[in-house]
Amino acid sequence: MALRSRSGTPRAELSTLSESELLVRAREHPVPRHVAIIMDGNGRWATRRGLPRVAGHREGVKAARAAVRAGTEIGLDYLTLYAFSTENWSRPEDEVSMLMSLLEEAIYRELPDLMARNVRLRVIGRPGGVPLPIRRGIDRVVEATRDNTGLTLVMAFNYGGRDELLEAVRALAVRVQAGELAPAAISEADVSAALYTRDIPDPDLLIRTSGEMRVSNFLLWQIAYTELWITPTLWPDFGARDLYRALVDFQGRTRRFGGV
Ligand code: FPP
Repeated sequence: MALRSRSGTPRAELSTLSESELLVRAREHPVPRHVAIIMDGNGRWATRRGLPRVAGHREGVKAARAAVRAGTEIGLDYLTLYAFSTENWSRPEDEVSMLMSLLEEAIYRELPDLMARNVRLRVIGRPGGVPLPIRRGIDRVVEATRDNTGLTLVMAFNYGGRDELLEAVRALAVRVQAGELAPAAISEADVSAALYTRDIPDPDLLIRTSGEMRVSNFLLWQIAYTELWITPTLWPDFGARDLYRALVDFQGRTRRFGGV
C-alpha cells in the first residue's frame, strides 16, 4: 500500500506538486511549531560546477533566506538553521574566515527583511571563540529584532550538541555542589532548562539536505522524538517547495513519542 499523507495524497505524488499546490496542502493541517535544518551540500554544489566552495556558501545564504521567507509564509514559530558547528573550525582557515564574514554579512544585510517579516533572531552556540567583530555584528541583529513576535529564527553558530550537553552538566554540577539540587532529583526538565534552547520547544521536524544519513552533533538532546526528513537535494537548491513538501509529509505521520 502506498504511504499517504493525511490529505490523501500518496507520498510519491507530493514530488509532482508545485510550490503553491504544496503550500495549499500544508495549510490544510496544523504545521509543526519548530523545524530544524542541517543545511548540507554547499561545497558539493560548487564543486560540481567547477566553482570554489565559497560560491556554494554564497548560494547557501540565498537558500537560507528563501527558507526563512517560506517559514514565515506558512507560520512556523521556530526555524533553527545549523550555520556553523564546533567541528567546522577544522576546515581550511580561509574557508572558515570566509564563512564567518559571509554569515555575519548575510545576517546584517537581512535585517530590514527580518524586521518587515516580524522575525526575531536568536543565536545558540558557544559565544567564546567567535571573532569579536562577528559576534558584535550578530548581537546587533539579535538586539534589533528582540521584540519581533513572528517567527523565531534560531541560528546555531559555533554550536555542538555534545558541547551544549557538557555545559549543561557543568551548570547542574555547580548547583549540586552548592546544595541547591540533589543528584537524584535532577529531572529531564532540569537538563532541558540548562541547554541553550531552554525556552524553545523541541523540534518537531529535522530536515537534512544532501542525502547524508546522520545528525552531526546537532541538538542531540532536543531531537529525541523529532521526525526526520532527509532529501538528496543540495542545500543551495533547497527552496520553499522543498520545505512545504517536507511539511506535508510530516503532517501525514503519526507521532508516538515512544508509545504505541
Ligand atoms: C554545508 O555545506 C553548510 C555549512 C558549512 C554551513 C554554512 C551555511 C550557509 C553559508 C548557509 C547560510 C546560512 C545562514 C544562517 C545565513 P558544506 O560545506 O558542508 O557542503 P559539503 O558537505 O558539500 O562540503
